[in-house]
Amino acid sequence: MLRRALLRGKGFPGWWSAAVFGGIGGLRSGGILGGGPDVITFTGAMRSRSRPDWQDLRMTSAAAPKKDPWDLPDVSGLTVGVLGGTGDQGRGLAYRLALAGQRVIIGSRAAERAHEAATEIGHGVEGAANAECAERSDVVVVAVPWDGHARTLGALRAELAGKLVVDCVNPLGFDKKGAYPIKPEEGSAAEQAAALLPESRVTAAFHHLSAVLLADPAIDEIETDVMVLGEVRADCEVVQALAGRIPGMRGVFAGRLRNAHQVESLVANLISVNRRYGAHAGIQLTDV
Ligand SMILES: NC(=O)c1ccc[n+]([C@@H]2O[C@H](COP(=O)([O-])OP(=O)(O)OC[C@H]3O[C@@H](n4cnc5c(N)ncnc54)[C@H](OP(=O)(O)O)[C@@H]3O)[C@@H](O)[C@H]2O)c1
Repeated sequence: MLRRALLRGKGFPGWWSAAVFGGIGGLRSGGILGGGPDVITFTGAMRSRSRPDWQDLRMTSAAAPKKDPWDLPDVSGLTVGVLGGTGDQGRGLAYRLALAGQRVIIGSRAAERAHEAATEIGHGVEGAANAECAERSDVVVVAVPWDGHARTLGALRAELAGKLVVDCVNPLGFDKKGAYPIKPEEGSAAEQAAALLPESRVTAAFHHLSAVLLADPAIDEIETDVMVLGEVRADCEVVQALAGRIPGMRGVFAGRLRNAHQVESLVANLISVNRRYGAHAGIQLTDV
């Protein structure tokens, strides 16, 4: 009844039904269900406790043109740092991104190890201590084991301030039954990063890549999707574009950081797949 009355505008002053319809329209087209946001402007009358003069209540709804979600920024000029870049995942990502023409600096707790690994990777990859790597990079991938995640990021708060951080850490435990997800207190590794780095722009991505495939020079294309999560659309788009620089790979926006835990956890399933089928499984999203 209430809904019908609202739809017909019956029993309600004109300003009220207009406001309700405006609110619903705003949610439908921009807020919840996607698409460009409507612009809804209320005059001060709306805030008044007394009955508003409806003639003063102006509401405009100008649909912004919908942006093509595949229209991603040019990231070719950005320097990518990789914390823990001497490990399998960091080396693999550094190799692929450098091969695609990206400037890459790998980091290590020991600068010497980073230099050695960078020389081995080649393609112009540089090595540095983690702090210098963070300082000199625009985008910083976190590729350290879960055990060292909090300590590493906590120590680099100043160096990572203002930087776009990409967390690819999967908090997993292993026992005789295989791999299983660990739920961090903050919800996920990515949310832990966001809590530790309040001056950084934290995203999460690259969780499901096989380091073996990344490192294999005989493989030209890695046909897989990279789920990218974050709070700021523009930051996610930078990470999506970076993933897209690797032949065969697509970066796909996959939600906010509060949904990172299940993305990180899915790696436990991929490890089971790999063990059963002797594979290096990744993910591909259909119908996008
Ligand atoms: N391997 C994969 O296929 C894969 C795929 C997707 C995501 N990941 C994620 O990527 C991260 C790295 O994986 P990985 O296999 O490359 O790990 P890893 O080889 O064990 O470690 C990476 C590097 O992190 C540094 N490190 C080790 N222990 C550390 C600690 N306690 N604190 C700080 N730094 C430490 C080491 O570099 P230095 O000693 O030179 O500092 C090491 O070379 C993990 O969180 C994993 O979940 C891995």
